[in-house]
Amino acid sequence: MSEKEETKQISRRQFLRNAGIVVGGTAVGSSFLLSACGGEEVTKTVTKTVNVTTATPKFVCPYDSQEFDTFAALQAHVEANHSAGDPITVNKFVSPYDGAEFDTLEQLKAHLDANFMSQGEPGVVSFLVNGKPVTVKVEDYWTLDFVLRDRLALYGTKVGCGVGQCGACTVLVDGVPTFACLTLGIEIAGKSIETIESLSDGTNLSPLQQKFYDNEAFQCGFCTSGFMMAAKALLAENPNPTVDEVREAVAGHICTCGNLKNTVATIAGGV
Ligand code: FES
Ligand code: FES
Repeated sequence: MSEKEETKQISRRQFLRNAGIVVGGTAVGSSFLLSACGGEEVTKTVTKTVNVTTATPKFVCPYDSQEFDTFAALQAHVEANHSAGDPITVNKFVSPYDGAEFDTLEQLKAHLDANFMSQGEPGVVSFLVNGKPVTVKVEDYWTLDFVLRDRLALYGTKVGCGVGQCGACTVLVDGVPTFACLTLGIEIAGKSIETIESLSDGTNLSPLQQKFYDNEAFQCGFCTSGFMMAAKALLAENPNPTVDEVREAVAGHICTCGNLKNTVATIAGGV
């Protein structure tokens, strides 16, 4: 993924769309965002960072060519569907990070552990962010939200309370909604992290984002990325949730604008 800068005039509504729903990793601070919530139509000049998405590395099963986001998912698939004695005649186990090929799952794991999981240096962690492999040197006390925002410039993940009480910082860790403010950077080695930037391709809204936009399921937008990531995980398991099921899924989320009822109604019924 590479980045480029764009500067242009946008209306208040366009600004909220870009900032609140976070199209492709737009970097906007909350105070500036709130200042755009005045009553009349205004025009602001903003500079935004646009992420240009490149191919997502995948772990590919050499037996049947199914693709997986994580090594753990590939390992589970192979162990469930292919016996250790199954011959691999053509394809190999391939490292998505550097293309190295191996005859066995164990050899691939050893290669990943040695070269990408620790780098042999304390505090250095490698993991996937939105499908892209990254390696970051972290201090023991750095939280995941700090790593994402301050080291990887993924400003779509918001930090509200910082103590696990508002849900604004929610990201997916191996598909599970997780408060980034309560997760240490050193805990995420080898895991797959999904942030709000994963929803859009950088230009077009995802169906979930479009539904939020169409239903005006946000006001200032500060809580929105957390709600959307929780919704993404819920809809992956339950594509047509009831209002009560949505309420349960977002129970740890707070919307200080008071838009919770509309947000829940928007997620209910799927996209
Ligand atoms: S900032 Fe993480 S739960 Fe509030
Ligand atoms: S829309 Fe403002 S905090 Fe939820």
